[in-house]
Amino acid sequence: MYLGLDLGTSGVKAMLIDGNQKIIGSANGGLDVSRPHPGWSEQEPAHWIRATEEAVAGLKAAHPKELAAVRGIGLSGQMHGATLLDAGDKVLRPCILWNDTRSYLEAAALDADPRFRTLTGNIVFPGFTAPKLAWVAKHEPDIFARVRWVLLPKDYLRLWLTGEHMSEMSDSAGTSWLDTGKRKWSSELLAATNLDEKQMPTLVEGTEVAGKLRGELASKWGIAGDVVVAGGAGDNAASACGMGTVSDGAAFVSLGTSGVLFAANGSYLPKPESAVHAFCHALPNTWHQMGVILSATDALNWHSGVTGKSAAELTSELGDALKAPSAVIFLPYLSGERTPHNDATIRGAFIGLGHESGRAVLTQAVLEGVTFAIRDNLEALRSAGTDIARVTAIGGGSRSRYWLASIATALGVPVDLPADGDFGAAFGAARLGLIAATGADPVAICTPPKTAGTIEPVTALTGAYEDAYKRYRALYPAIKPLSI
Ligand code: XUL
Repeated sequence: MYLGLDLGTSGVKAMLIDGNQKIIGSANGGLDVSRPHPGWSEQEPAHWIRATEEAVAGLKAAHPKELAAVRGIGLSGQMHGATLLDAGDKVLRPCILWNDTRSYLEAAALDADPRFRTLTGNIVFPGFTAPKLAWVAKHEPDIFARVRWVLLPKDYLRLWLTGEHMSEMSDSAGTSWLDTGKRKWSSELLAATNLDEKQMPTLVEGTEVAGKLRGELASKWGIAGDVVVAGGAGDNAASACGMGTVSDGAAFVSLGTSGVLFAANGSYLPKPESAVHAFCHALPNTWHQMGVILSATDALNWHSGVTGKSAAELTSELGDALKAPSAVIFLPYLSGERTPHNDATIRGAFIGLGHESGRAVLTQAVLEGVTFAIRDNLEALRSAGTDIARVTAIGGGSRSRYWLASIATALGVPVDLPADGDFGAAFGAARLGLIAATGADPVAICTPPKTAGTIEPVTALTGAYEDAYKRYRALYPAIKPLSI
């Protein structure tokens, strides 16, 4: 048996699979985000542990015998968060999360140093880890002075699970300190933020062993014998392992809190000026590109909060048959945007409202706004040398057929839906746990799921979608001068 633990933004998911990769069960533990100031987004690392314990307790209650037989654990997690620890591994402040944009000035300053783009292959985005440390150095110097370790969220979970300070390539590529082509920390970039390689965890590949489960936790969970913990992956690379998106050209679209258009690459293909992320994959000698938007289901959840209707109620009001975009256009920049704008201060907008614009029209515009942001990502990936022939959809938003038809039509590619099952980050993490524990061939394990159905572009609406996308594209430069 193998256990995947995915530390997401809204909760921790624990999933058990057997040696044939059959899903035995899964359980969750919830998490909240604290937003003490506009643009800030934080979580207490202690809450991650509480949520993990809750999720594993759920699995133990439902599958005690299977949990007792676990031999390997894989970790996946929300990327980029800065978890700062002192010399006694005590957490120094709440973790600053991936969608926190407070450090945009520090990010711009680091990005202006050409070594960052050259060595990391990426823009220094405000969400990445290095500018957060620069922000802490400036605004909380006493804390900065006490930083002994900088860990990514899932690697803090590893510390609790194993006692080890270790990480792996895919998540570390999102720090702005990794030499992404060479797959090693850059002491030069660390020095540029007044840090040292000694403050960083030891790196392995995602498929390799990175610690053993502590005896105390093993006995609490009813496990006898050694359990290895794999390097694991950042949540997007972990999802890719779950979806079999590991060979050149394979792609998925993820509609989670963030939205991601992800393509696997057999070689390192950086193109920072496109705002495409070029990161290491979780498998050795493999890389990937992705475009990231900061609010995907988060935009629908915002609309749900405002209207007092659940996301499912809102999307069901639209029915399944795709409509032409209305005059109302929504820009989903609720927390600023990464790809393609790299703009932390821009905010969202509805335009084109009329008396006739009821709730369903606004819901349609919200879904379309996210869809067009993903189309922007497709254009960015194309400019970085990757074309996508079809995508598989994952994430909570993929439950809406309407949304998927909208994405297929705006991207002009078929969208595959995986057969029943849950092939996301927790499953990918469990696969990495299996690989690390057994030494199995990663490519043979990370195969794509069966396809339950394919949503084709609605060609009758392609023209209407192109026209609406043109209007959408024109809006960012139009509202940019008005942003506060
Ligand atoms: C990727 C990113 C998000 C988080 C979400 O660069 O910031 O997708 O990983 O968990």
